[in-house]
Amino acid sequence: MPQRSKMHLVAYMRTNSTASYAGGWRHPSAPLDDVWSPERYQYLARLLEGACFDAGFFADNLGLPDLYKGRIDDYIGRGGQASLLDPMIALPIMAAATSRLGLGATLSTTFNEPYHLARSLGSLDLVSGGRAAWNVVTSTMDCEAQNFGLAAMPDKATRYARGDDVLEACTRLWDSWEEGALVMDRESGVFADPARIHPANHAGPHVSTRGPLGIPRSPQGRPVLMQAGSSPRGREFAARWAELVFASPATREAGIAFRADLHERLGRAGRRPEDCKVLVSLSLVLGETEAIARDRAAYLDSLVAPELVLASNSSLMGIDLDAKLRAEAAGEEALAEVGNQGVQGTLDRMTQTVAARKQSFAETVRRPRDLFTGTAAGIADVMEDWFTSGACDGFVLPPTVYPQTFEDVARLLVPELQKRGLFRREYAGRTLRENLANPG
Ligand SMILES: Cc1cc2nc3c(=O)[nH]c(=O)nc-3n(C[C@H](O)[C@H](O)[C@H](O)COP(=O)(O)O)c2cc1C
Repeated sequence: MPQRSKMHLVAYMRTNSTASYAGGWRHPSAPLDDVWSPERYQYLARLLEGACFDAGFFADNLGLPDLYKGRIDDYIGRGGQASLLDPMIALPIMAAATSRLGLGATLSTTFNEPYHLARSLGSLDLVSGGRAAWNVVTSTMDCEAQNFGLAAMPDKATRYARGDDVLEACTRLWDSWEEGALVMDRESGVFADPARIHPANHAGPHVSTRGPLGIPRSPQGRPVLMQAGSSPRGREFAARWAELVFASPATREAGIAFRADLHERLGRAGRRPEDCKVLVSLSLVLGETEAIARDRAAYLDSLVAPELVLASNSSLMGIDLDAKLRAEAAGEEALAEVGNQGVQGTLDRMTQTVAARKQSFAETVRRPRDLFTGTAAGIADVMEDWFTSGACDGFVLPPTVYPQTFEDVARLLVPELQKRGLFRREYAGRTLRENLANPG
């Protein structure tokens, strides 16, 4: 559905020296030694809030990917996107430095119990004054399963069934304290009103919890729910729960089809299209002129290690690309097609790129993500086109180089989008949910 209002911007973050571009960490302007420094997260939070971003969220995984060649060497050895600090430590630091920016954590429904999830996300919502978001993931990698006592990752259907169950349980826990249950009246000696605090009594097929939650109701009641699964089952899950969906289509047309499909599913789930925003990820290289931007992109390209790209894509696609490419080169049919443990959005993006570029699979999986390179006006043209043609409600922006990309977005791109009336000049609301509902 074509649209004309204001777009949403969310920053994709990692507790690593940069966030998504293979080799970006080698750029001389990306600091390497501040990942554990609170000042880094304060600076980042202020930068994003100064640019009126809706939110920033940390991507995260619970293990070091080892699918490529069956070992961790190329992924961690060449600077893959591991989380080098638990993001739940960084988020309250960011909350303390800001007052409007939404703050998101990626937490797995497969490897966490609902009580833990409800309590830590409720706590983040409390300390941030209603700005918490949860990027709900089911996890995909066997190396993660093996860190939690399982031999392999449960299959996708089981993971999403548990995900539904965990979210039902969390919802009951978050609702276990009514508004006003915390009285804190010194005079009367009433601290809390037990009549307004209820058990959760959730007994599901995968998880059970009695409740009530030990912490009071948070400003948003529950965090804003984000989701990035794009298999049919993942989209059903999003249609039921998500308020913000993160997708990575390779083309505008693929984005339009994805968003239309999600809108249909939302309708079937009794929800409206505006109840769930679709944001697509865009990796940017901005320059004051086209030539500066092109030079920057070429320099970044020179930092890429193809082995790291293959190792990253192996973990995202759920297949050892070393074995697959060697089998293909030898003309063997034998190697099984990608299993069901990959990230569907990445598998789709690869297929779309092969078709759009008319290049081979082997070439596609060796290349890093496409970079959108240009001046603020040129990039704003692309964003405006995707946005107004209904491919998305906004964008998730990873830093190709940290913090340079976000600084350039704040200095060059956001003013251009504001000038076009496509992005807020100030926050309309206090909580993240208010700002998603009213982009200003
Ligand atoms: C753009 C994007 C970002 C994602 N980020 C993460 C992440 O940080 N951590 C994680 O465990 N899973 C992440 N995922 C995985 C999904 O949330 C989901 O659990 C997984 O893709 C399996 O579902 P699917 O097959 O329906 O896509 C991401 C997926 C996409 C498409």
